[in-house]
Amino acid sequence: MPLVPNVLAPILERHRRDGTRLMQILRETQEAIGWLPPEAITGIAKGIGWPRAKVEGVAGFYSFFHTRPMGRYRVLWSDNITDRMLGNRELMQAMCQRLWLEPGRVSEDGLVSVDTTSCTGMCDQGPAVLVNYRAITRMNTERVNQMADLIRSEAPVAEWPAEWFRVDDNIRRADILLDNALRPGDALKAALAREAETESAANARSWREGVHTDMHGPSAVLDEIKKSNLRGRGGAGFTTGIKWEACRHAPGDERYVVCNADEGEPGTFKDRVLLTRQADLVFEGMTVAAYTIGARRGYLYLRGEYRYLLDPLNEVLARRRDMNLLGAKILGRPGFEFDIEVHLGAGAYVCGEESALIESLEGKRGVPRSRPPYPVTNGFLGKPTVVNNVETFAAAALVAAKGGDWYRGIGTAKSAGTKLLSISGDAARPGIYEYPFGVTVQQVLNDAGAANVQAVQISGPSGVCVADNEFGRRIAFEDIPTAGAFMAFDHSRDMFEVARNFAQFFAHESCGFCTPCRVGTTLLKNLMNKIGDGHGTQVDINEIFNLARLLQMASHCGLGHTAPHPLLDTLEKFRPAYERRLKSLDFEPAFDLDGALAQARQMTGRDDSAAHLEKQS
Ligand SMILES: Cc1cc2nc3c(=O)[nH]c(=O)nc-3n(C[C@H](O)[C@H](O)[C@H](O)COP(=O)(O)O)c2cc1C
Ligand code: SF4
Repeated sequence: MPLVPNVLAPILERHRRDGTRLMQILRETQEAIGWLPPEAITGIAKGIGWPRAKVEGVAGFYSFFHTRPMGRYRVLWSDNITDRMLGNRELMQAMCQRLWLEPGRVSEDGLVSVDTTSCTGMCDQGPAVLVNYRAITRMNTERVNQMADLIRSEAPVAEWPAEWFRVDDNIRRADILLDNALRPGDALKAALAREAETESAANARSWREGVHTDMHGPSAVLDEIKKSNLRGRGGAGFTTGIKWEACRHAPGDERYVVCNADEGEPGTFKDRVLLTRQADLVFEGMTVAAYTIGARRGYLYLRGEYRYLLDPLNEVLARRRDMNLLGAKILGRPGFEFDIEVHLGAGAYVCGEESALIESLEGKRGVPRSRPPYPVTNGFLGKPTVVNNVETFAAAALVAAKGGDWYRGIGTAKSAGTKLLSISGDAARPGIYEYPFGVTVQQVLNDAGAANVQAVQISGPSGVCVADNEFGRRIAFEDIPTAGAFMAFDHSRDMFEVARNFAQFFAHESCGFCTPCRVGTTLLKNLMNKIGDGHGTQVDINEIFNLARLLQMASHCGLGHTAPHPLLDTLEKFRPAYERRLKSLDFEPAFDLDGALAQARQMTGRDDSAAHLEKQS
């Protein structure tokens, strides 16, 4: 295949034959050739000086890389429960019929393959598909038919109707974050300018144009972040100031800032909207973090499903370089040097876990590391690294601009600021809602036009399922913490099917590194299928509880720990949805153990039969 060396040479050169750039090298090679043939793997391994097996292992880990030929058109249907509620399965079936194709197979002429993928982050405008990894929203029968015709006539995807690729922001409620008046550079200027000023001069200028300026260099910025009580928005809610301080004081000559834009949790799409509408604020937050901890390099890890955002984000970065908000001597400050690069993921939910994300950034398989040590001391390339969620960085920029006290005054006692919620499912107005912390679930449902709701899955499958008697509870770290997903299910929905979809998700996304999770998530999925198919008994329910204990105790990372959550929640709150599927509530063994032992009991004169024991008790 002479094509391979010709394709590889410029790609390897562009990435300086640097192994930590392997993911980008593999992606660009695949984009050029259509898949990753053995010659390409060999060429890349030679080019970066890594063992071939290691490169092949990386290519095999990510679901968006293909080491076997794929269809020239690869259609992947987003398969979150909300896509299913919008009829994705029926539409996919119709597409396969029209293309004379089985799901999951490449057509014999190598033209097309149709399959499913985990949630693509378009739940507010589904059903969604990825075609050659480009997102298409609002699928319907008409689009399925037209798409099948375009594929059969081999029309280039770039020439398909532009309207299909439209991704709406659907911002329904904006607050301090989505409705801020900051211009690019405002937060950074506020962070930098105060060092030279006297206290009184700083106070005199404070709050000018809404920008609070009472700060004194990196440690003053850190003080403001700590004062703000900002907590991470990626799920765990760790205090941002403490994280930045630990990184700032960790020994080492190089430090890194990493923005986690993997956003793989089904039902979450708020980072997509932040990166579309507030990219400057996010990059500004990263730059403030770099100033605070003393980093010179930053990465934004963008999930592969958001490939369409890569060019616009690079344009924002280029503009910021032109404005001297990135690069050397930022805003004229000697020694303040920082730049950001966008790194594209390749379809692995586990890479949202911060240590797996760092592995992936280093060009490796996205397997979570053992912790401690934590990234703040041993992160990217073993150096101190701050990893924060997209929304956390955007909020940090606001704090840098307007001050910690101002920020802390919004929200509740333990949850400062606002939270973006991604609302989907049975709601008349799905989309992005920004609320000060403390809003009730009921209020959110009312605002989103969600009536007759029986349950809300908050923070995605790994979060919590809230039933209608709990809708007075509040979105806040002290009550219901969330990374942002808010999926509503009305009374027509079968909560067993919701939980089954989530069990399938975790089994699909387990990285396979540790046995309890690799085997446990698959067993949970199989049990849910068995019950769903009407072959389950009480024993299978008991087995779910046993496996849940095992996963929670013995898994290596948060994916395994949280995988049983949706099953345990729905078993507790929607038990009839399971029980009406069971063959029988009692265990009906095929083999009568008591009967088989009766003869032995007679011979030995011992009567410990179940009937006898029951009589005694
Ligand atoms: C399986 C798994 C997936 C995760 N996915 C994400 C994600 O997509 N985005 C994110 O910001 N954090 C995610 N996290 C949490 C990160 O590990 C980490 O806590 C977070 O990026 C820290 O940023 P924060 O302090 O700003 O929240 C995930 C964690 C686990 C265990
Ligand atoms: S718990 Fe699951 S996802 Fe996490 S390391 Fe183990 S196998 Fe991988």
